Amino acid sequence: MSSLMRAVRQHAFGGPEVLQVGEIERPEPLWTEVLVRVHAAGVNPVDCKTRAGGGISPTQGDLPFTIGWDVSGVVEAVGSGVTRFAPGDEVFGMVDFPRAGAAYAEYVTADSRQLAPKPANVTHVQAAAVPLVGLTAWQSLVSVGDVGPGKRVLVHGAAGGLGHIAVQIARARGAHVAGTARADQAALLEDCGLDQLVDYTTTRFEDVVHDIDIVVDTVAGDNGLRSLRTMRPGGVLVSLPVPPDDATVEEARRRGLRAVSLTVEADRADLEALTALVAAGALRPHVGDVLPLERADKAHELIESGQSRGKVVLSVVDGE
Ligand SMILES: NC(=O)c1ccc[n+]([C@@H]2O[C@H](COP(=O)([O-])OP(=O)(O)OC[C@H]3O[C@@H](n4cnc5c(N)ncnc54)[C@H](OP(=O)(O)O)[C@@H]3O)[C@@H](O)[C@H]2O)c1
Repeated sequence: MSSLMRAVRQHAFGGPEVLQVGEIERPEPLWTEVLVRVHAAGVNPVDCKTRAGGGISPTQGDLPFTIGWDVSGVVEAVGSGVTRFAPGDEVFGMVDFPRAGAAYAEYVTADSRQLAPKPANVTHVQAAAVPLVGLTAWQSLVSVGDVGPGKRVLVHGAAGGLGHIAVQIARARGAHVAGTARADQAALLEDCGLDQLVDYTTTRFEDVVHDIDIVVDTVAGDNGLRSLRTMRPGGVLVSLPVPPDDATVEEARRRGLRAVSLTVEADRADLEALTALVAAGALRPHVGDVLPLERADKAHELIESGQSRGKVVLSVVDGE
């Protein structure tokens, strides 16, 4: 096997055009690490922000580097001490977030505990769409919100990459789920099990949604503050694009609520919980666009222009 591989490199921060495929040394797995032959890499808004010099760019090290955190692929080799996987195993996960994940490449290394067996009932492309948004939604709803039967959830941006996964997790855990989205997303959201769709272009959600226990806000702006009016005492607002501002935190406290920020973390138990939901058919990622590694620039354009619908995934191995 050649020691070189194809990877998306950027030598400068900037627009999508800075993403260029080049040849670099294939990484070697250290102790506890797994070398994965990447079949598909998921694309997230944080990838775009980081490429442009925002997001988690301060923790990426020196340019040039390779972005990308969501992968699905096949174990090529394992480092010393790895007991959970062997060459040939199909795995998926969110690798090395918030450090340089380097997932837009033919191979990636990751701590074995950042990976889980890929659910057999989905393709690599579908699996690569899950980890970052799935872990974020799980940690918001389950770890912070303790979602379960009898709880009422509001998801802002319900049709987005993160939102449609959050809707499905909340439903799978027995909650009632309301969500804000455009009316033309009704079919997707019905398929996800959404109980109440609020068209944010025509209706103020706080006029029609009430008694909410957990708000998953993927939109920000004034959504957080307005959401407090929909909530019942003891509830929690989880703000994901940016932390809640001081006015929102203070108003939440005054109402007997909490307003918190959350940054997604790699977590083996959470990833395995997502695996179980996918395997059971209770969590189905909606992939809108699949592009080859060479078109990472186009993938970013789709997300940044708001044209993407569902998740955007890079297919690294033909036919995936
Ligand atoms: N804190 C963390 O760890 C974490 C983790 C994951 C993601 N995030 C952040 O969460 C945000 C969403 O991520 P994503 O992957 O879901 O992005 P995405 O796929 O682009 O989805 C965003 C969704 O929000 C919708 N939207 C926009 N304005 C809205 C409004 N006023 N009301 C309701 N919906 C609205 C968009 O639909 P239309 O505009 O077409 O209507 C789109 O469906 C990003 O900022 C991302 O960086 C944070």
